[in-house]
Amino acid sequence: MTSQSSQSTYYVTTPIYYVNDKPHIGHCYTTLVADVAARFARFTGRDAFFLTGTDEHAEKVVESAQKNSVTPIQWADQNAAEFEKAFADLNCSNDDFIRTTQPRHTEKVQAYIARMQEKGDVYLGDYVGWFDPSQEEYVTENVAREHDYKSPVTGRDLVKRTERNYFFKLSAYQEQLLAHIEKNPGFIKPEGRRNEVLGRIRDGLQDVPISRAVDENDPASQWGILMPEDPTHRIYVWIDALINYRSAVDTDERRRYWPADVHLIAKDILWFHAVIWPCMLMSLGLELPGCVYAHSYWIREGRKMSKSLGNFVDLPTIDAYCDKFGRDAFRWFLVTQGPMGANDSDFAHSKFVEVYNADLANGMGNAASRVSNMIGKYFDGACPDPQGRTTWDDYDWPALASAAVENALARADEMDLPGALAEGVKLAAQVDGFIHKTEPFKLARDESKLPDVGVILYQCAEALRIASLIMWPAIPDRAAEIWKRFSCDIDPARVSIAELAQWGGLKPGDSIVKGDPLFMRADPKEAAPEPAEASA
Ligand code: MSP
Repeated sequence: MTSQSSQSTYYVTTPIYYVNDKPHIGHCYTTLVADVAARFARFTGRDAFFLTGTDEHAEKVVESAQKNSVTPIQWADQNAAEFEKAFADLNCSNDDFIRTTQPRHTEKVQAYIARMQEKGDVYLGDYVGWFDPSQEEYVTENVAREHDYKSPVTGRDLVKRTERNYFFKLSAYQEQLLAHIEKNPGFIKPEGRRNEVLGRIRDGLQDVPISRAVDENDPASQWGILMPEDPTHRIYVWIDALINYRSAVDTDERRRYWPADVHLIAKDILWFHAVIWPCMLMSLGLELPGCVYAHSYWIREGRKMSKSLGNFVDLPTIDAYCDKFGRDAFRWFLVTQGPMGANDSDFAHSKFVEVYNADLANGMGNAASRVSNMIGKYFDGACPDPQGRTTWDDYDWPALASAAVENALARADEMDLPGALAEGVKLAAQVDGFIHKTEPFKLARDESKLPDVGVILYQCAEALRIASLIMWPAIPDRAAEIWKRFSCDIDPARVSIAELAQWGGLKPGDSIVKGDPLFMRADPKEAAPEPAEASA
């Protein structure tokens, strides 16, 4: 067995985003959550792979390219680069960025569709239905009627289409899929979403079109991957897009990551991921993902974000927040306050300031500054000697710290990332309470008590070091800054948290520097930071 194969793998994905739009908070959120999940997994010593990317064969890409007088691929290149940059700017640690126009993807898509055809799961037939051009999908007659023949998502007109298409025999997999979902309660999360999907499957699955006929006069129909052996049809963008999760890792070096542990998505695209994709995988004889996690939406200051309201938290706004508070603060807010459950989350400036101050400025930041300040004052900035002690009164620090780490990892494993990160905040708050109770600043007035002060401050600094390890997946820049100030040589990519979080990591005598505030307190009365340029 090689060392790689003996390590457990972890594979997390995000949706691949349409390149006709600019990145905004929604895209950044899903990718940040995946980033934090991947960082937790790596930190526990797992061999993790984190994939994100762009979905480029949509019809609306052709339309936007035309409007901007460029070719579809030029448009895709330009916008894919923006997504890639936005995620890099937010310090996302994705291992790859897949684009569906890349040959490594298009070739695989054709090969997989050919395999489904060989299996007898694809046939030619006629399809008549209501198409939602703004979402690139058909809606059922019922849904169309319910929404007055407008898109249930965007409100734009639905179009009646009749097409000769290749179909995938989705209906053939209904029982197998139901059995899988019933047997694996964690397959669709959260619970409410699982029930939604189960209800709809029980209503019956219908075969789905997987191609569009090429029409000489319609440029949109000339953009996309051709059906294998049939140049008169192109593969429907959704079928092409879903396959990215497999094509990116279908290489000798990466196949070990299959199947994905988590496909992270939002509620808008649950059906594709929880029903169509698993059935395609069954047809291909491939293992199903461990979990499809569908979060809810960000709204802004109490209102749904929309093009017509022009109120998206867009990249210029995100940049303004990162410039003012630091990108870690933005990451922290999104990941700890985001809509992981059934409800939408509000991006309200007042809430941002409240959480930033409570968790970061007055929480971890203030505790670190108090402790390093006292070490500077009473011990000349040298880490004091714990005198072999790990407890003080009823504080058993190694036990408190290891419980925090254990809880955090267990929660991260369940995708409860806010809960995991909160363990770090809690530990930092315990340090604060400990200082309040033991009052080392008073003890220090009596020189004979200095050894005791040293014991207390060592315990504080060591507990904060461990709290910063727990918070690192969300605030990697600031955590690294704490480690630098505490003279710790920590590389989360190399050493697991279990090892790093052992009590006693700080070495007496090593320098502990206070430095500038890690997180400047925010003034709740100050207005939200203004984007530098007007949003598009
Ligand atoms: N291209 C398809 C996905 C194909 S995956 C095989 C697509 N792209 S998208 O650009 O529209 O992105 C949708 C995803 O963006 C959502 O599932 C979610 O991850 C994210 N978000 C978009 N708006 C959002 C919010 N307002 N709030 C949170 N996330 C949202 O669909």
